[in-house]
Amino acid sequence: MRISREHDTRRFDSTVAKLRKRVSQRFMDRFVIQGGHHLSGTVTISGSKNTALPLMSAALLTDEPVQISNIPDLKDITTFSRVMAVTGTSVEYNRDNGTIRIDAGTLNNPVAPYELVKRMRASFYMLGALLGRVGKARVSLPGGCAWGPRPVGLHIDGLKAFGATIDLDQGYVVGSAPGDRLPGGIFKMEPSSVGATVNLLLAAVTAAGGSRIENAAIEPDVVVFSEMLQKMGAVIHGIGTPILEIEGVDKLSGGNFYNCSDRIELGTFMIAAAISGKPGDEIAMFNAEPRHLGDTFLDKFKETGAEIRTDGSTVYVKTPEKLSAVSVTTEIFPGFPTDLQAQWTVLLACCDGNGKVRETIYPDRFKHIPELRRMGINAIVVGDEVVVEGGGVFQGAQVMSTDLRASVSLVLAGMVASGTTYVQRVYHLDRGYENLEGKLAGLGARVVREQFDEWADPS
Ligand code: EPZ
Repeated sequence: MRISREHDTRRFDSTVAKLRKRVSQRFMDRFVIQGGHHLSGTVTISGSKNTALPLMSAALLTDEPVQISNIPDLKDITTFSRVMAVTGTSVEYNRDNGTIRIDAGTLNNPVAPYELVKRMRASFYMLGALLGRVGKARVSLPGGCAWGPRPVGLHIDGLKAFGATIDLDQGYVVGSAPGDRLPGGIFKMEPSSVGATVNLLLAAVTAAGGSRIENAAIEPDVVVFSEMLQKMGAVIHGIGTPILEIEGVDKLSGGNFYNCSDRIELGTFMIAAAISGKPGDEIAMFNAEPRHLGDTFLDKFKETGAEIRTDGSTVYVKTPEKLSAVSVTTEIFPGFPTDLQAQWTVLLACCDGNGKVRETIYPDRFKHIPELRRMGINAIVVGDEVVVEGGGVFQGAQVMSTDLRASVSLVLAGMVASGTTYVQRVYHLDRGYENLEGKLAGLGARVVREQFDEWADPS
């Protein structure tokens, strides 16, 4: 039987694709960090990842062009842009000036596919956005993540409360609105959820009637997102409070909007400044919005003895003579942010005395602890908290990233440790920190990115 040339080519292409995938899985970037170099100088904080994603989602609600500036160059932004493009929306990101232009006037395919949603949980915002725009959606359920299940029951129950019909079909959530427009409704969420608040706002602002969200999240991401919706013509009362009253409108308009600064990156660099300089060294963080960190973090940070002062949008942190251990408990805003608990653990290891970090938002967000222990940090997880022995002198080691914030805690530890630290699979970092190695090197850290063959036999 003569096999057609076309068949041959197809087979060759699929073999090449398989090999390319195996190679890409084999060669992953790692950071090589020479510890003990003191950090000082200036760094600019990038736009907020966790605000950019809801702002991008809002652009789907109008057929007019939307432009958003101060969007960081991150993998999650690229992934979300691809998710939006599947719907027929045009998304153009300008890396030179950090501006994204989104035109959903051509939206014609209300689908968010598994292959992309599995890479980033916030893609689930497509459900609320598509229901809000066209009254129908077929969106893949997001998976879990490194530290456990990430349920979406609040998103589903809230949309149902607003009048959506929701079915599950082969791993996809299929949503529809009667007459392609949600009536609106009342929903009280427990616990308070950032993502569910975003999704429900996306669905409610263009509903036929009014809606009310109780126990809504009040994180800065949600506030800045709500303010953008208002500028687009949405009618939302109670922004910044746990009770949101929305009056549905027929149409939203486009326009130019600005993303806020990344509060978690700011907190990460503040911790870096406290632990990695010699006493008196100072780091100035430009384009910062310290009040987005919440009073709890700022108060706890000051309690350690780290010297902080602010001047407009610049935050200055000086390394103190010594750091005092201050225990923290993560809570919803304005409590201590869960996205800074891994970084705080490393700070505690550099303090005099022992401290604790209690995690109340996620059941098991401690995947970084075994890696930090490889570096000699004496941290022990007991139930929902980690007890950290301070004053530690710790050594560089080969360590493995498991998720975005865990990996940055390994980088912080590597900068303070003696010797060399190899942080593998830094693609986790690339999801949420823009040019981290460049920013740290600019402050005097010795960190380089290199490709690493994880399958090579030890030399
Ligand atoms: C957002 O995730 C952030 N992600 C997370 O940041 C952050 O850790 C989290 O808020 C808490 O502040 C983005 O903004 C893209 P949640 P989200 O829904 O919305 C439970 C990072 O590192 N819950 O507020 O997914 C949930 O299990 C990431 O940048 C339900 O029970 O978080 C958790 O215990 C990691 N049912 C709590 O609510 C639901 O339907 C808070 O989760 C939804 C959530």
